[in-house]
Amino acid sequence: MAGEKDVLILAIESSCDETAAAVVKNGREVLSNVISSQIELHKLYGGVVPEIASRKHIEKINQVIEQALTDANVTLDDLDAVGVTYGPGLVGALLVGVAEAKAIAYAKQLPLVGVHHIEGHISANYIENKELEPPFLCLVVSGGHTHLVCVKDYGTYEVIGRTRDDAAGEAFDKVARAIGLGYPGGPKIDKLSKEGNPDAIVFPKAHIEDAPYDFSFSGVKSSVLNYINGCKMKGETYSQADIAASFQKAVVDVLVGNAMRAAKEYGFSKLAIAGGVASNSGLRAAMQEACVANQIAFYHPSPVFCTDNAAMIGVAAYYEYLNGTRHGWDLNAAANLKLGER
Ligand code: KG4
Ligand code: ZN
Repeated sequence: MAGEKDVLILAIESSCDETAAAVVKNGREVLSNVISSQIELHKLYGGVVPEIASRKHIEKINQVIEQALTDANVTLDDLDAVGVTYGPGLVGALLVGVAEAKAIAYAKQLPLVGVHHIEGHISANYIENKELEPPFLCLVVSGGHTHLVCVKDYGTYEVIGRTRDDAAGEAFDKVARAIGLGYPGGPKIDKLSKEGNPDAIVFPKAHIEDAPYDFSFSGVKSSVLNYINGCKMKGETYSQADIAASFQKAVVDVLVGNAMRAAKEYGFSKLAIAGGVASNSGLRAAMQEACVANQIAFYHPSPVFCTDNAAMIGVAAYYEYLNGTRHGWDLNAAANLKLGER
């Protein structure tokens, strides 16, 4: 915007197993996006070990921030605010990012803007879809969350559906482990399912009677485990690829079905997806097809902005900054922070 001063935000994300920092200009332009992943470290244990995650964050965070500033060709003196994920997530992991953000903001006397991790995932959609503005419906599918969210305005959300048990990504990870694919399972199931038959095995699709937009993935997960045990007991071999493809189809059908019903019921003409599972090729294809059939505009971030990153936190922080959100020097990590809470 001519004549108006640019707003540069340094954003920090450390809620799970990625140490990430980014510089975002005016909410939609990503000047840098540095991610140090700990996946190799946690693979040994088949999942994220919280204590190890915290220790790795503290080791990496300064280098990651330095790199983000260098890549963006800015210094701390150019910044207008510091944004940071303060929940939900692993408390020890969150504390590293929160303490770091507070130290930088305090030293440079900059506004401190705490961001909800899911608000970050949703906001990832603004990066590459410059025309996207609220209101829209967003399906957030990550390793820790499965939410259907009405994005009413920037910073104003209503959660209309959520998982009753496992998150979608968690189900992918658990099934991958059961069929011997290792951690993290989502991308591996996605890849293998391309070689399998999605109609080979019928896995259950849970619908919750009194809550049409809620999800449940523990049933499909148990059903996969039972199927494998059944094959083993009968001395039969099973096809990893068919299990992967059939399981992915069962999950995707429910995600798309609930999202479409909600979009129609609430009258949304725009639908976005977000979170690690939003990079799933089966989900993207099925959602795209359903949106075309229902004349709904479909938005999704590139895979790098689907999984945890700090650019999405910088975007969310920008809109919170414009809305006047400022956190004090007493900002703490909030492991169970609810979307919409301050
Ligand atoms: O958003 P994210 O990076 O972290 C959380 O906030 O939880 O999501 C990580 C999750 C993991 O469960 C991972 O298996 C899943 O996203 N995931 C995928 C794919 N890529 C990542 N699941 C299905 N298909 C994928 N291509
Ligand atoms: Zn996430």
